[in-house]
Amino acid sequence: MREVLTQATYLAASVLFILGLKSLTRPDSARRGMQQAAVGMLLAIIGTLLHREIVDYRWIAGGLALGTLLGYPLGVYVPMTAMPQRIAISHMFGAMAATLVGVAEYYTHGAEIPGPKMAALGFEVLFGSLTVTGSFMAFGKLQELIRGRPITFPGQNVFNLALFTVAAGCFAWLIGHPGATAVFYAMIAIALVIGVSMVLPIGGADMPVVVSLLNSYAGLASSATGFAIGNNVLIICGALDGGSGFLLSILMCKAMNRSFRNVLFGAFGSPVAATARTAEGLTVKSVSPEDAALQLAYARSVIIVPGYGMAVAQAQQAVRELADQIERRGGEVKYAIHPVAGRMPGHMNVLLAEANIPYEKLLDMEEVNPQFASADVALVIGANDVVNPAARSDRSSPIYGMPILNVDQARAAIVLKRSMNPGFAGIENELFYDAKTAMLFGDAKGSLVKLLTEIKAL
Ligand code: TAP
Repeated sequence: MREVLTQATYLAASVLFILGLKSLTRPDSARRGMQQAAVGMLLAIIGTLLHREIVDYRWIAGGLALGTLLGYPLGVYVPMTAMPQRIAISHMFGAMAATLVGVAEYYTHGAEIPGPKMAALGFEVLFGSLTVTGSFMAFGKLQELIRGRPITFPGQNVFNLALFTVAAGCFAWLIGHPGATAVFYAMIAIALVIGVSMVLPIGGADMPVVVSLLNSYAGLASSATGFAIGNNVLIICGALDGGSGFLLSILMCKAMNRSFRNVLFGAFGSPVAATARTAEGLTVKSVSPEDAALQLAYARSVIIVPGYGMAVAQAQQAVRELADQIERRGGEVKYAIHPVAGRMPGHMNVLLAEANIPYEKLLDMEEVNPQFASADVALVIGANDVVNPAARSDRSSPIYGMPILNVDQARAAIVLKRSMNPGFAGIENELFYDAKTAMLFGDAKGSLVKLLTEIKAL
């Protein structure tokens, strides 16, 4: 009876995970998707607690209490802007769990483990271990505990390749000789080093792809854990996690015009950026809220371009109110969404959906780019790298080749930011010096409130 109940909850959990992933594909149903996945996870935990092989609940109760103590503050108090590093550290814990289950299984059964099961177990600890240190390194880079710029040394690629080869050799050896305990632990040690060496040469700008790739590794490790210990829900949710993380990594690489191979193999053959152009001798035109409001009030078509600064300022509600005012005066407002604007995939979509901005008004880069040329005003709110024309023209720029939003083609641009400081990639943006561009300096939310007051007074 217990077994039937466990399998039934696992089945329900798996269905909820799939529905959750589907709902997450649209900002307006994303919240429901998270809830479906969370209920799925609760069912999976309940199903596991009913498992007939559990003989003592004390350690489990302790684990659940510790997990809740750590997880609750991570979920409630970490700001949206620190989400990438929070996700990286969560992957580290997930991968650590998969690795420890694998080690416990090996410790208990060792030489008796048959070849196919050893293959699953070996895969689990190999990928689990490298994800633990890799995620920790990604966390360190994103949290700026370690240098965000690529850390390289001569012969690094050969060194990484040698490590991979030795680890793969250990893995293959273990399938034929499961009793080789020293090889098993050596493989874990090497995989831990691979995690570090793989992430070291990757720059901060590529970290989101790395995090999503490590997510897929953690998923694959969990799926292998499912095979190793005969747990269906782990097989299914690990495969979903691994598959979706992998697809997301590919999509993000495309969006940032990064070679997936470079990220996958740790900056293999990645170009070394020369010094990007500077803005010496160029002048900036700043605008007052009154003049900017006047321009927006009489514009027939406005494209709003949100970026990381909008997230920092939590200005999404003010953006909505300003757009409402422009529309009330007969203007048309659309939103241009760059796939890597902000600091996590879908960052802008989630924030704008939170402010109840209709989904149909959020246009993807491919769809909106041809429309800039006919827009009266492009209103850039805390975006920088994703609107930097150097990505098109400056071969020495670290973002060269990244598709950008064509704000420079609009009839006029108004940029809301606090200073002339660069964005994530740390480079100058010629758009801010363009004769068509007017800078409205200040915190994005404060500036939007001023614009709103001015427009209402017109
Ligand atoms: P960024 O290039 O990072 O620029 C954000 C700008 O917002 C900054 O120049 C900053 O200028 C301004 N800002 C910050 N706080 C502000 C505030 N309170 N009010 C007004 N402005 C504020 O942002 P982006 O254009 O969205 O580009 C994203 C970058 O992050 C890309 O390089 C991307 O590759 C990278 N990245 C993306 C992700 C994902 S998956 N989305 C993850 C990690 C990294 P001031 O300081 O002068 O105000």
